[in-house]
Amino acid sequence: MTTHPVRKMNNGRTMPEVGLGVWQSPRGEGTQGAVRAALELGYRHIDTARIYGNEKDVGIAVRESGVPREEIFVTTKLWNDDQGHDSALRACDASLARLDLEYVDLYLLHWPVAGKRLESWRALEKLQSDGKCRAIGVSNFLTSHLEELIAHAKVVPAVDQFEMTPFLQQREARATCKKHGIVVQAYSPLTHGTKLDHPVVVQVAKQAARTPAQVLLRWGIQSEAVVLPKSTKRERIAENAAIFDFTLDAEAMGALDALDEGLATGWDPRMQP
Ligand SMILES: NC(=O)c1ccc[n+]([C@@H]2O[C@H](COP(=O)([O-])OP(=O)(O)OC[C@H]3O[C@@H](n4cnc5c(N)ncnc54)[C@H](OP(=O)(O)O)[C@@H]3O)[C@@H](O)[C@H]2O)c1
Repeated sequence: MTTHPVRKMNNGRTMPEVGLGVWQSPRGEGTQGAVRAALELGYRHIDTARIYGNEKDVGIAVRESGVPREEIFVTTKLWNDDQGHDSALRACDASLARLDLEYVDLYLLHWPVAGKRLESWRALEKLQSDGKCRAIGVSNFLTSHLEELIAHAKVVPAVDQFEMTPFLQQREARATCKKHGIVVQAYSPLTHGTKLDHPVVVQVAKQAARTPAQVLLRWGIQSEAVVLPKSTKRERIAENAAIFDFTLDAEAMGALDALDEGLATGWDPRMQP
């Protein structure tokens, strides 16, 4: 069993509050080694996507880990080229084949592709009722995308995964998720490595006797998100999960909350109609 706390979704299932991200983890041993290390270190949540090109390696590491499949929460995502009803059904089958798993725990629409996202969502609803995905959700959906989807959906997304850090707090999208009982997953929770030396982050880390990475991740947890840090290095994978035995006090949270500057380190759904 995972030693990490879990978060309950609106379908009654749970997911560990920290997951290993594998975007830009190299194919082959790069990804397999990271997932293997994470599972050895007590992670039970892995976040991949078709577009990362490493679903096969995630599947190998999961199956060879010796950890029972039902204890590991595996997410993958529908890539933009595959959006549409029938193409989404086929894409999920192809992801399951590459992972060599019978189901994924969470399948996400990777991006709110205009003109396609509603029919794609209908496919995800079918995939869930067929048992191929235990939960379905979205990624990079902000308030307008979510409200539109929910107005047309039979199933309310269980999860919305978007970039969220002290430097990009997404308060409106978080409030919309809260209103609908949607779990927020924070991606690029370490700012893709770009703000680990920010003086406020470094200062809070000194006071808490933790590392800057742990401070950013702890801020995410205390802001009610599930966090998805990526590393391929065993020591960092361990460091990034050692975030449940300390708390940032109100002063530290206030200092981090004051850092919002709308910084998107990757793509930015605020421009997507
Ligand atoms: N849904 C989406 O559209 C979307 C978009 C982006 C990301 N994501 C998900 O979120 C995950 C994480 O996001 P991300 O990969 O952009 O970035 P991130 O987790 O914010 O940062 C990763 C970077 O930080 C370094 N790092 C990791 N732990 C560290 C530590 N303890 N100290 C110092 N440096 C550390 C990593 O290098 P090393 O690997 O060398 O340690 C890497 O360069 C992705 O892997 C993916 O699963 C989803």
